[in-house]
Amino acid sequence: VLTACGGDENASGESDDSGGNEIQEKTIKFSHVVAENTPKHQGALAMKEYIEEESDGKITVEIYPNSSLFGDQDEYQNLVSNNVQFIAPDISKFVGNNPQFNVPSLPFAFDNDAAALAFWDGDKGQEIMSSLTDDGVLGLYVWPNGGKHLTNNERPIESPDDLEGLKFRTQGGQVLEAIYSEMGAGSESIPFGELYTALDQGVVEGQENTFSNIESKKFDEVQKYMTVMNHTRVDYGLFTNTEFWDSLNEPTKEIVEAGVEEGTEVAREKAKALNDEGYEIIKERGNVEITELSPEQVQDFRDALQPVWNEYEDEIGSDVYEAVRAAND
Ligand code: LMR
Repeated sequence: VLTACGGDENASGESDDSGGNEIQEKTIKFSHVVAENTPKHQGALAMKEYIEEESDGKITVEIYPNSSLFGDQDEYQNLVSNNVQFIAPDISKFVGNNPQFNVPSLPFAFDNDAAALAFWDGDKGQEIMSSLTDDGVLGLYVWPNGGKHLTNNERPIESPDDLEGLKFRTQGGQVLEAIYSEMGAGSESIPFGELYTALDQGVVEGQENTFSNIESKKFDEVQKYMTVMNHTRVDYGLFTNTEFWDSLNEPTKEIVEAGVEEGTEVAREKAKALNDEGYEIIKERGNVEITELSPEQVQDFRDALQPVWNEYEDEIGSDVYEAVRAAND
């Protein structure tokens, strides 16, 4: 039996019958950084329930939310080392491995979750999701969270000029950085698990996130203003370790694969509802003054951020840009 913080080398549960016809005994770890009432955790939970039930308890799935096992800084490395078998980080955190993971950060790239998923389920998206194989990492599915919104402590944000001189926390990545510098603001990448404290202590004045993340982590307690923007997105890549995946015999893999599909379905189904619900709760709590932009004001942000698209076209690829546009049709 594995304990919560043991860096057990056998986390994937070594088993002698990987070529056999019996379901293998396995303990699978799924680590993530967000709270329980989020699309990512709900997807992970559906995966766990399916796999444990279908394997008659032979496979155990341990979920570690809230950065309780690994945080942004070390979850990928621990997947590579097979200390954890599933992670589902915000794709924009992989830009160091492949700049094409900047796609969710391209300003106003997708009209909605369906368009984002059409891109990630399509050829270009799949190609990007498969780009970590050299690290022994297998990309499975993209789980949406949704559009991000701006919160800050200084002033209501209604136009690009309003960001001038402020510093925002980002998930990381060149495109997010460019977005802020285009509007005369600064940015700093800070791990999700440290964000509440960073906002509370004024390390940064603001941040961008989905309603679901703002609500479940109570960022509105330490922020004064929120602008509904939908300018960038949080989308998750569900990744597993190839060595673990290849260690599964046929009946075991069948169950795990079906569990992954079940989790994907639930995460995709729940994302919008959880964000809508999060928005309502933030409004009810009344901690932040909320700005909803008019279509003209949104257009001002689109225009101001157009140079970011041009700046990154070579690095991300015009074929990728084309696939992003096609996904919205
Ligand atoms: C963030 O770091 O703000 C988000 O990407 C966290 C998450 O996994 O949703």
